[in-house]
Amino acid sequence: MSLRILTHAPALGISRIAATTTTRKLTTAAAAHTQPTSSPAPAPPQRPLTAKETAFLEKALRVNQAGELGANLIYAGQYAIFKRDAKLAPLIRHMWDQEVEHLDKFDSLLAKHRVRPTALRPLWNVAGYALGLGTALLGPKAAMACTEAVETEIGGHYNNQLRVLLDMCKDEPELLKNGEIKELVDTIRKFRDDELEHLDTAVEHDAKGAEGYEVLHNLIRGGCKAAIYVSERI
Ligand SMILES: [Fe+2]
Ligand SMILES: [Fe+2]
Repeated sequence: MSLRILTHAPALGISRIAATTTTRKLTTAAAAHTQPTSSPAPAPPQRPLTAKETAFLEKALRVNQAGELGANLIYAGQYAIFKRDAKLAPLIRHMWDQEVEHLDKFDSLLAKHRVRPTALRPLWNVAGYALGLGTALLGPKAAMACTEAVETEIGGHYNNQLRVLLDMCKDEPELLKNGEIKELVDTIRKFRDDELEHLDTAVEHDAKGAEGYEVLHNLIRGGCKAAIYVSERI
């Protein structure tokens, strides 16, 4: 008898106590006739990463941390302007909260793998906040156009990394069962989905209706591409 059934037992004319007692008896009887089952053996430890894999992992962690830092600062800048806007404040706060989670994860992965952060971290701090604040000052649609452009680039960037990682594992699928590669793939997949959700939110809130949308969109995407290129290397 399942717990769900027990919850509705009074409606069936069975008292909760009686039903619970019956369940206990059944459970005890079943236990007496059940052989102990062994849990599945844990996956064996992975082989050490090759120099090429390590280089990719380090580069990916460094640039992803920088991107998530920038995203955090963009939403911080937007929130500073819209924090009293009943419609926009919770929306921006929700996306910002997800960026905080993304940044925390990459901070911990950098520490775990002893990867140095980008040397340009202070620059991304200022640039991210200025971008968020500046577009928000232009109005809600411009802020959404900024989100749309940034999330398009970050979503595409994560998809590119996933392609490389999956290609890396095509002859050794066991690399996706546990270990560093699996953790990175799972993390990127989850965050990529969050970024694409942010992109949808921006489009739903009329990002494309912003004044000078095309210019803004191309400028911001160009800036993101440059930031990704530089952060992978410095
Ligand atoms: Fe993110
Ligand atoms: Fe995002």
